[in-house]
Amino acid sequence: MNKIITVDGPAGSGKEKISKFIARKYKLFHIDSGIFYRRLAYEIEKNKIKFYEKKRIKNLIKKIDKISLRKFSGLREEKIGFIASEIAKYKFVREFVNSQQRLVTKTLSNKKGFVIDGRDIGSVVFKKAYLKLYVDVDVNIRAKRRYKQLIDNGEKSIYRKILEDIKLRDKKDKSRKNSPLVIPRGSKIIDNSKSFTQTSKQIVKIMESIN
Ligand code: C5P
Repeated sequence: MNKIITVDGPAGSGKEKISKFIARKYKLFHIDSGIFYRRLAYEIEKNKIKFYEKKRIKNLIKKIDKISLRKFSGLREEKIGFIASEIAKYKFVREFVNSQQRLVTKTLSNKKGFVIDGRDIGSVVFKKAYLKLYVDVDVNIRAKRRYKQLIDNGEKSIYRKILEDIKLRDKKDKSRKNSPLVIPRGSKIIDNSKSFTQTSKQIVKIMESIN
């Protein structure tokens, strides 16, 4: 099996930035597992299917061979994020997405290895990963960062609403029956609440200790 590094953590914890840093520094291929759920959510929305119409979602999935990993701004919309977090509760959706992730790591086997971020990557999808990381950041810091990001992008935003949304997303991710967000057994905790320089130092230290 290829070298796999998993990066799990709650919404807005900076998993993507951390994963991209690891991918660049250690020449690994980065996979953002949220994209699989968002892409599926996008197809559901496009086909005018409601997130609770399980049978129609099952039929849609049957027609998909391979989920494209191509990113576009529509995938980042709040509406798509909401549908993604709803369908992520369904066991059949998770099984499908998990098989798609394993497929990517097999079909791109010419790569040196992968760094994959999500909510259940170290706990469910790649239990035997080479290294498991869990990113921890207080919810208030996550909300402040998200708020700043939206304001910087020229979008209208209310801090209290952002905080509530993130808390709700956390609750959904942690309390769902199928693959809830947990700290994977054997994972190393990354504290990403300070500067990224501090975070990258923690990562490099961990990488040096296992190499
Ligand atoms: O990380 P991102 O916000 O792009 O993920 C979209 C949604 O997909 C999340 O709200 C989360 O509920 C779900 N997800 C998941 N498991 C993953 C990745 C994402 O349940 N491994």
